[in-house]
Amino acid sequence: MAHINAHYLDLPGNYLFSEVARRVAAYTTANPEQRIIRLGIGDVTRPLAPAIIAALQATVAEQATPEGFRGYGPEQGYSFLTRIIAESEYAGLGISQEEIFVSDGAKCDLGNFPELFAQDTVTAVTDPVYPVYADTAVMAGRALVHLPCTAENAFVPALPTRRPDVICLCYPNNPTGTVLTKEQLRVWVDYARANDSVIFFDAAYEAFIREPGIPRSIYEIEGAREVAVEFRSYSKTAGFTGLRCGYAVVPRTVSGLAPDGRRVPLNDLWRRRQTTKYNGCPYIVQRAAEAAHSAEGKAQLRQAVDGYLENARSIKKAFEELGLAVFGGVNAPYVWVRLPQGTDSWDFFSLLLQRAGIVSTPGAGFGAAGQGYLRLTGFGDPKDTEEAVKRLRRLQI
Ligand code: MLT
Repeated sequence: MAHINAHYLDLPGNYLFSEVARRVAAYTTANPEQRIIRLGIGDVTRPLAPAIIAALQATVAEQATPEGFRGYGPEQGYSFLTRIIAESEYAGLGISQEEIFVSDGAKCDLGNFPELFAQDTVTAVTDPVYPVYADTAVMAGRALVHLPCTAENAFVPALPTRRPDVICLCYPNNPTGTVLTKEQLRVWVDYARANDSVIFFDAAYEAFIREPGIPRSIYEIEGAREVAVEFRSYSKTAGFTGLRCGYAVVPRTVSGLAPDGRRVPLNDLWRRRQTTKYNGCPYIVQRAAEAAHSAEGKAQLRQAVDGYLENARSIKKAFEELGLAVFGGVNAPYVWVRLPQGTDSWDFFSLLLQRAGIVSTPGAGFGAAGQGYLRLTGFGDPKDTEEAVKRLRRLQI
């Protein structure tokens, strides 16, 4: 008899977005006449930008020629992409292309990276949190330290009282849409350096930052190259939720402790892991990602991100007009609504679905401190978002 990893039994029955999808499917089956507007999962709705499409088409055509055909690629990513990432995203921040590992997305990297650490690793996560970090720790049977982030502390996590080995930070934040200033992020880098912890910095939403002075990369903070691994994604910035591409930045200077006391660079371990378990993101997709860094690509993508931010702003305004406190939606695609005192977030999710046909994500799905909040996304189609705003204006709560 093969024994299962019993830690899986400690997980919630469904992954959050699968649970939302299940409830929405049940509702639409029972109410087929109602037109539903989906502002739940953060999935993009705009078509791929012309620069990306041109790169895809050219690369597909190359595959029909003996010279252009590609089989297995380098597991870490093609050098044309790692080079342009280092040059265009990390100029002046001391990151070299050997420290960049291309993958099929930040979600997989965030779920896989903890494999490099010992079984008794303690992981700190904000509460509410993108469920991947917490679920991954539960799957491995590892202890979690929760860092509550609510309106009461302006969504800035306080330093933990129990020392974590790994600290997961996501800024701009999913789900609250809030950001940290350089000074607030420096507190965490200093803490990690003083306590020999490693920070996983999820920067999937950096392209949404519009206010000056907000760090886009953790490496803008002095000393972060000693303690932080950064994860980025083309999903939300370039519309790759279907294509799949992201990357992890693993500076050579970030290390962990071996049982014999040696310091081992995580860069070596991650390379070892990826070469064994991963065959690389498709060449075609990496060429498309390369196009996202061209001047033309950047201009087109900025326009798309601006459109999503405009959606977020109008959703935020609509909830404010209902008299609710609303956070995020300025430097992030997510709008985080504080519900009337004592309202359960799953109940409000159902109310919004039934009375307005709008799909949201209940804050409680992101953790206990998310109870009483609701998340909406600016990633909807602009016309759908406009319609959702009209429906919200008619809502009596
Ligand atoms: C979300 O809605 O939180 C995201 O779409 C999830 C993800 O990026 O995997």
